[in-house]
Amino acid sequence: MPLKITFLGHAGFLLDDGESVLAIDPFLTGNPVATMSAGDIKCTHIALTHGHADHFGDTVAIAKANDATVIGAFEITEYLGEQGLSKLEPGNPGGRIDLPFGSVAFTQAFHSSSYEGRYMGMPCGLVVSMGGATVYHCGDTALFSDMKLIGELHRPDVACIPIGDRFTMGPQHATKAAELIGAATAIPIHFNTWPPIEQDASAFQPEGVSVRVMQPGDSWSVA
Ligand code: NI
Ligand code: MN
Repeated sequence: MPLKITFLGHAGFLLDDGESVLAIDPFLTGNPVATMSAGDIKCTHIALTHGHADHFGDTVAIAKANDATVIGAFEITEYLGEQGLSKLEPGNPGGRIDLPFGSVAFTQAFHSSSYEGRYMGMPCGLVVSMGGATVYHCGDTALFSDMKLIGELHRPDVACIPIGDRFTMGPQHATKAAELIGAATAIPIHFNTWPPIEQDASAFQPEGVSVRVMQPGDSWSVA
């Protein structure tokens, strides 16, 4: 089946190819816009962009409940090992990991990464190849010109781009990011979860890119 993408709210997604389900940044408990709870998530894999609580979220509970493999920065997987998880795939920017459904590559992201005061390694973007489609989840990041290079190297079909400002790009820089990446479709993320990152998504208007604003719980299939 074509890749089905479900938005969990904030920066979280489920990617489903009919056999494997990859949860990205599954932050549900304490997420004011989430429509699903951690117990609703059925997945085979979890991938994390970085360690901040609004991304790390319910990873430990979901991984344990589903016996799921977690893909993330080396320091995040070390921490997860201490929490009793053993199915771990550590990585770092520049690297790619082949997985049963395809692959996950780590890109740089200009941000920080910690959890409960502990250093969690480099913040990352993730390029997921799954179900015949390629999705570049930028993670939390500022704009950087190598987004053009990431677009050339990975040819993503879909880019998930933060537009909330303050902690990441705002709509103006995110518009430039979408144009540099060159994916056919861009999904704005990391906005309207809380007042400090309230944004009007209509200000995100990249040229030549179709913008798909997803509400938490929405799904669509990448044709
Ligand atoms: Ni963050
Ligand atoms: Mn964040």
